Amino acid sequence: METKNNIYPIFDRMLQRSDKEKLLKQRSIMIWFTGLSGSGKSTIAIALERELHKRGLLCRILDGDNIRSGINNNLGFSPEDRIENIRRIAEVSKLFVDSGIITIAAFISPSNSIRKMAADIIGKDDFLEIFVDTPLAICEQRDVKGLYAKARKGEIKNFTGISAPFEAPECPALTLDTSVLSIEESIKLLLELILPKIKLN
Ligand code: PPS
Repeated sequence: METKNNIYPIFDRMLQRSDKEKLLKQRSIMIWFTGLSGSGKSTIAIALERELHKRGLLCRILDGDNIRSGINNNLGFSPEDRIENIRRIAEVSKLFVDSGIITIAAFISPSNSIRKMAADIIGKDDFLEIFVDTPLAICEQRDVKGLYAKARKGEIKNFTGISAPFEAPECPALTLDTSVLSIEESIKLLLELILPKIKLN
């Protein structure tokens, strides 16, 4: 049999991302939320997944709960560990995107270079950067996990926004401030942006 690939002919028969997108009747993209701890990234990601699911669209959320407790449970918050954290997340995300799945990541991802690394791994055309721009004062006031108080007392080192930097994205596809917008309003803006991009022509 004639094949394009004489060494591994089976690869010629491997299904492509486009086959999977057709099966799922959706175009897969990466929706990447960045922002401070407590800014609302995971809350918005979860609400967004529900809205897309209701419309028959298959998504996968990656966030601290399922990544830092598992595949990245050997990583902390030093600059080097944060890079490795995001590198692995981006590689895993790429597998999901290549499987036709709308992939939603919610990580601080604190610098432009770290987010560029993620975009380069996943592919710039598939990467939608969403800045959850809730002010530090509000995140600190919420202090859902009590970590800001500990960071202020010096009990947690390298805490983003307190003793480690957060660099705002230069050109996000969308900016959401959850101290001003309700979840419903944020989701409405997100759907306006995302739905046309995930429609399969
Ligand atoms: S990063 O910077 O992208 O690698 O961080 P991420 O994987 O998103 O993890 C952030 C969550 O870990 C908790 N946590 C800390 N955050 C920032 N700095 C330090 N030192 C730290 N230690 C623990 C914190 O609860 C973050 O939770 P989220 O979900 O962002 O609110």
